[in-house]
Amino acid sequence: MNIILLGPPGAGKGTQAQNLVAHHGMRQLSTGDMLRAAVKAGTPVGKMADEIMKAGKLFPDELMADILGEYMDTVPIDVGLIFDGYPRTEAQAVLLDKLLSDRGRTLDHVIELAVDEEALVDRITGRFTCASCGTGYHDRHKQPEVEGVCDNCGSTEFKRRPDDNEETVRKRMQVYRAETAPILPIYEKRGIVSRVDGMAGIEDVAQALNTILS
Ligand code: AP5
Repeated sequence: MNIILLGPPGAGKGTQAQNLVAHHGMRQLSTGDMLRAAVKAGTPVGKMADEIMKAGKLFPDELMADILGEYMDTVPIDVGLIFDGYPRTEAQAVLLDKLLSDRGRTLDHVIELAVDEEALVDRITGRFTCASCGTGYHDRHKQPEVEGVCDNCGSTEFKRRPDDNEETVRKRMQVYRAETAPILPIYEKRGIVSRVDGMAGIEDVAQALNTILS
Protein backbone atom coordinates (compact mmCIF):
# COMPACT_ATOMS: atom_id res chain seq x y z
CA MET A 1 0.00 0.00 0.00
CA ASN A 2 1.30 3.48 -0.90
CA ILE A 3 -0.16 6.53 0.79
CA ILE A 4 0.22 10.31 0.99
CA LEU A 5 -0.15 12.12 4.32
CA LEU A 6 -1.24 15.65 3.50
CA GLY A 7 -1.57 18.59 5.86
CA PRO A 8 0.00 21.93 6.77
CA PRO A 9 3.19 22.27 8.83
CA GLY A 10 2.65 20.69 12.24
CA ALA A 11 -0.47 18.76 11.22
CA GLY A 12 1.16 15.57 12.52
CA LYS A 13 2.35 13.97 9.26
CA GLY A 14 5.72 12.93 10.67
CA THR A 15 4.24 11.77 13.98
CA GLN A 16 1.67 9.57 12.26
CA ALA A 17 4.17 8.31 9.68
CA GLN A 18 6.41 7.05 12.50
CA ASN A 19 3.41 5.24 13.96
CA LEU A 20 2.57 3.60 10.62
CA VAL A 21 6.20 2.51 10.20
CA ALA A 22 6.11 0.90 13.65
CA HIS A 23 2.74 -0.84 13.26
CA HIS A 24 2.36 -1.53 9.53
CA GLY A 25 5.99 -2.08 8.46
CA MET A 26 5.75 0.71 5.90
CA ARG A 27 8.60 3.08 4.92
CA GLN A 28 8.38 6.82 5.64
CA LEU A 29 9.63 9.04 2.82
CA SER A 30 9.84 12.55 4.28
CA THR A 31 11.11 15.02 1.70
CA GLY A 32 11.84 17.48 4.54
CA ASP A 33 14.08 14.85 6.20
CA MET A 34 15.80 14.19 2.86
CA LEU A 35 16.63 17.88 2.49
CA ARG A 36 17.76 18.15 6.13
CA ALA A 37 20.11 15.18 5.52
CA ALA A 38 21.58 17.05 2.53
CA VAL A 39 22.00 20.19 4.68
CA LYS A 40 23.80 18.14 7.34
CA ALA A 41 26.05 16.56 4.71
CA GLY A 42 26.99 20.05 3.45
CA THR A 43 26.47 19.14 -0.22
CA PRO A 44 25.72 21.83 -2.86
CA VAL A 45 22.09 20.63 -2.82
CA GLY A 46 22.13 20.91 0.97
CA LYS A 47 23.41 24.51 0.87
CA MET A 48 20.61 25.43 -1.53
CA ALA A 49 18.03 23.58 0.60
CA ASP A 50 19.22 25.31 3.77
CA GLU A 51 18.46 28.78 2.40
CA ILE A 52 15.10 27.74 0.96
CA MET A 53 13.93 25.99 4.14
CA LYS A 54 14.97 28.85 6.43
CA ALA A 55 12.86 31.15 4.23
CA GLY A 56 9.88 28.74 4.39
CA LYS A 57 9.85 28.47 0.59
CA LEU A 58 9.71 25.34 -1.61
CA PHE A 59 12.66 23.44 -3.07
CA PRO A 60 12.53 23.13 -6.94
CA ASP A 61 10.08 20.48 -8.18
CA GLU A 62 12.30 18.55 -10.61
CA LEU A 63 15.27 18.35 -8.27
CA MET A 64 12.99 17.24 -5.40
CA ALA A 65 11.58 14.46 -7.61
CA ASP A 66 15.09 13.24 -8.49
CA ILE A 67 16.01 13.03 -4.81
CA LEU A 68 12.74 11.29 -3.88
CA GLY A 69 13.16 8.78 -6.75
CA GLU A 70 16.59 7.79 -5.41
CA TYR A 71 15.10 7.11 -1.97
CA MET A 72 12.19 5.16 -3.52
CA ASP A 73 14.69 2.92 -5.30
CA THR A 74 16.07 1.78 -1.93
CA VAL A 75 12.71 0.34 -0.82
CA PRO A 76 11.70 -3.22 -1.81
CA ILE A 77 8.53 -3.29 -3.93
CA ASP A 78 6.58 -5.24 -1.28
CA VAL A 79 7.14 -2.52 1.35
CA GLY A 80 4.47 0.21 1.34
CA LEU A 81 5.49 3.87 1.10
CA ILE A 82 4.26 6.81 3.16
CA PHE A 83 4.80 10.11 1.39
CA ASP A 84 5.28 12.69 4.14
CA GLY A 85 5.51 16.23 2.77
CA TYR A 86 5.23 15.21 -0.89
CA PRO A 87 3.66 16.27 -3.21
CA ARG A 88 3.44 19.97 -2.36
CA THR A 89 2.60 21.46 -5.77
CA GLU A 90 0.51 20.44 -8.76
CA ALA A 91 3.73 19.77 -10.71
CA GLN A 92 4.92 17.45 -7.92
CA ALA A 93 1.60 15.56 -8.03
CA VAL A 94 2.19 14.89 -11.76
CA LEU A 95 5.82 13.90 -11.09
CA LEU A 96 4.72 11.52 -8.32
CA ASP A 97 2.42 9.65 -10.69
CA LYS A 98 5.43 9.02 -12.93
CA LEU A 99 7.76 8.12 -10.04
CA LEU A 100 5.21 5.52 -8.91
CA SER A 101 4.32 4.07 -12.31
CA ASP A 102 8.02 3.79 -13.31
CA ARG A 103 8.44 1.54 -10.26
CA GLY A 104 5.26 -0.50 -10.75
CA ARG A 105 3.52 1.14 -7.79
CA THR A 106 0.09 2.73 -7.45
CA LEU A 107 -1.30 5.26 -5.02
CA ASP A 108 -3.93 3.81 -2.65
CA HIS A 109 -4.84 6.60 -0.22
CA VAL A 110 -4.39 10.33 0.26
CA ILE A 111 -5.11 11.13 3.89
CA GLU A 112 -5.67 14.77 4.77
CA LEU A 113 -5.00 15.76 8.38
CA ALA A 114 -7.52 18.56 8.94
CA VAL A 115 -6.27 21.06 11.52
CA ASP A 116 -6.76 24.51 13.01
CA GLU A 117 -3.77 26.53 11.79
CA GLU A 118 -3.51 28.73 14.90
CA ALA A 119 -2.99 25.66 17.10
CA LEU A 120 -0.19 24.56 14.81
CA VAL A 121 2.06 27.43 15.78
CA ASP A 122 1.98 26.08 19.35
CA ARG A 123 2.67 22.56 18.11
CA ILE A 124 5.61 23.52 15.94
CA THR A 125 7.34 25.88 18.33
CA GLY A 126 7.16 23.16 21.06
CA ARG A 127 8.54 20.39 18.86
CA PHE A 128 11.91 18.67 19.37
CA THR A 129 13.47 15.39 18.26
CA CYS A 130 16.04 12.92 19.50
CA ALA A 131 19.38 13.92 17.95
CA SER A 132 20.34 10.27 17.66
CA CYS A 133 17.30 8.35 16.31
CA GLY A 134 14.93 11.17 15.25
CA THR A 135 11.98 10.19 17.45
CA GLY A 136 9.68 13.20 17.73
CA TYR A 137 8.58 14.86 20.99
CA HIS A 138 6.75 17.97 22.14
CA ASP A 139 7.23 20.25 25.18
CA ARG A 140 3.58 19.82 26.18
CA HIS A 141 1.92 17.06 24.08
CA LYS A 142 4.50 14.28 24.00
CA GLN A 143 7.40 14.33 26.45
CA PRO A 144 9.87 11.46 26.90
CA GLU A 145 8.77 9.09 29.70
CA VAL A 146 11.98 9.89 31.59
CA GLU A 147 12.80 13.58 31.29
CA GLY A 148 15.80 14.21 29.04
CA VAL A 149 16.08 10.56 27.86
CA CYS A 150 14.80 9.31 24.48
CA ASP A 151 12.17 6.55 24.92
CA ASN A 152 13.37 4.80 21.79
CA CYS A 153 17.19 4.78 21.99
CA GLY A 154 18.15 6.20 25.41
CA SER A 155 20.05 9.17 23.96
CA THR A 156 20.16 12.34 26.05
CA GLU A 157 20.76 14.67 23.09
CA PHE A 158 17.79 16.47 21.51
CA LYS A 159 17.49 19.11 18.78
CA ARG A 160 15.08 21.71 17.37
CA ARG A 161 14.65 22.70 13.72
CA PRO A 162 15.92 26.16 12.62
CA ASP A 163 12.70 26.72 10.61
CA ASP A 164 10.46 26.11 13.63
CA ASN A 165 10.07 29.77 14.60
CA GLU A 166 6.75 31.59 14.36
CA GLU A 167 7.69 33.82 11.40
CA THR A 168 8.87 30.94 9.19
CA VAL A 169 5.96 28.73 10.28
CA ARG A 170 3.48 31.37 9.13
CA LYS A 171 5.26 31.63 5.79
CA ARG A 172 5.18 27.80 5.43
CA MET A 173 1.44 27.84 6.15
CA GLN A 174 0.87 30.50 3.52
CA VAL A 175 2.78 28.38 0.99
CA TYR A 176 0.67 25.35 1.98
CA ARG A 177 -2.58 27.25 1.38
CA ALA A 178 -1.39 28.66 -1.97
CA GLU A 179 0.50 25.70 -3.46
CA THR A 180 -0.36 22.46 -1.67
CA ALA A 181 -4.03 22.54 -0.62
CA PRO A 182 -5.10 23.12 -4.28
CA ILE A 183 -3.77 19.66 -5.28
CA LEU A 184 -6.41 17.85 -3.20
CA PRO A 185 -9.07 17.97 -5.97
CA ILE A 186 -6.72 15.97 -8.24
CA TYR A 187 -6.98 13.07 -5.80
CA GLU A 188 -10.63 13.69 -4.92
CA LYS A 189 -11.47 13.05 -8.58
CA ARG A 190 -9.81 9.64 -8.21
CA GLY A 191 -11.89 8.89 -5.08
CA ILE A 192 -8.88 8.13 -2.87
CA VAL A 193 -9.04 11.03 -0.35
CA SER A 194 -9.93 10.48 3.32
CA ARG A 195 -10.09 13.24 5.93
CA VAL A 196 -9.02 12.75 9.53
CA ASP A 197 -9.46 15.19 12.42
CA GLY A 198 -5.84 16.13 13.06
CA MET A 199 -6.82 18.13 16.15
CA ALA A 200 -7.70 14.92 18.02
CA GLY A 201 -5.09 13.34 20.31
CA ILE A 202 -2.13 11.55 18.71
CA GLU A 203 -3.51 8.09 19.62
CA ASP A 204 -6.98 8.92 18.25
CA VAL A 205 -5.53 10.16 14.97
CA ALA A 206 -3.44 6.96 14.75
CA GLN A 207 -6.59 4.89 15.34
CA ALA A 208 -8.43 6.75 12.57
CA LEU A 209 -5.53 6.08 10.17
CA ASN A 210 -5.48 2.39 11.09
CA THR A 211 -9.19 2.19 10.31
CA ILE A 212 -8.66 3.73 6.86
CA LEU A 213 -5.76 1.39 6.06
CA SER A 214 -7.44 -1.79 7.36
P1 AP5 B 1 8.84 19.36 6.25
O1 AP5 B 1 9.94 18.85 7.05
O2 AP5 B 1 8.06 18.43 5.41
O3 AP5 B 1 7.88 20.20 7.20
P2 AP5 B 1 6.32 20.53 7.15
O4 AP5 B 1 5.53 19.98 6.03
O5 AP5 B 1 6.28 21.99 7.32
O6 AP5 B 1 5.74 19.69 8.24
P3 AP5 B 1 6.30 19.50 9.66
O7 AP5 B 1 7.40 18.48 9.67
O8 AP5 B 1 6.64 20.83 10.24
O9 AP5 B 1 5.01 18.99 10.42
P4 AP5 B 1 4.34 17.57 10.56
O10 AP5 B 1 3.01 17.61 9.91
O11 AP5 B 1 5.26 16.44 10.18
O12 AP5 B 1 4.09 17.58 12.13
P5 AP5 B 1 4.74 16.70 13.30
O13 AP5 B 1 4.27 15.28 13.20
O14 AP5 B 1 6.20 16.92 13.39
O15 AP5 B 1 9.38 20.50 5.26
C1 AP5 B 1 10.27 21.52 5.72
C2 AP5 B 1 10.72 22.36 4.54
O16 AP5 B 1 11.41 21.53 3.57
C3 AP5 B 1 9.60 23.03 3.73
O17 AP5 B 1 9.21 24.26 4.31
C4 AP5 B 1 10.30 23.19 2.35
O18 AP5 B 1 11.17 24.28 2.37
C5 AP5 B 1 11.13 21.93 2.23
N1 AP5 B 1 10.40 20.84 1.57
C6 AP5 B 1 9.99 19.67 2.14
N2 AP5 B 1 9.34 18.90 1.27
C7 AP5 B 1 9.34 19.59 0.09
C8 AP5 B 1 8.79 19.32 -1.20
N3 AP5 B 1 8.08 18.20 -1.45
N4 AP5 B 1 8.96 20.24 -2.17
C9 AP5 B 1 9.62 21.38 -1.93
N5 AP5 B 1 10.16 21.71 -0.73
C10 AP5 B 1 10.02 20.81 0.28
O19 AP5 B 1 4.00 17.36 14.55
C11 AP5 B 1 4.36 18.64 15.03
C12 AP5 B 1 4.39 18.63 16.57
O20 AP5 B 1 3.07 18.47 17.06
C13 AP5 B 1 5.22 17.46 17.15
O21 AP5 B 1 5.95 17.95 18.25
C14 AP5 B 1 4.17 16.44 17.59
O22 AP5 B 1 4.59 15.71 18.74
C15 AP5 B 1 2.95 17.30 17.89
N6 AP5 B 1 1.71 16.63 17.48
C16 AP5 B 1 1.51 15.89 16.37
N7 AP5 B 1 0.25 15.44 16.32
C17 AP5 B 1 -0.38 15.94 17.42
C18 AP5 B 1 -1.71 15.82 17.94
N8 AP5 B 1 -2.66 15.10 17.30
N9 AP5 B 1 -2.00 16.47 19.09
C19 AP5 B 1 -1.05 17.18 19.75
N10 AP5 B 1 0.23 17.30 19.33
C20 AP5 B 1 0.57 16.69 18.17
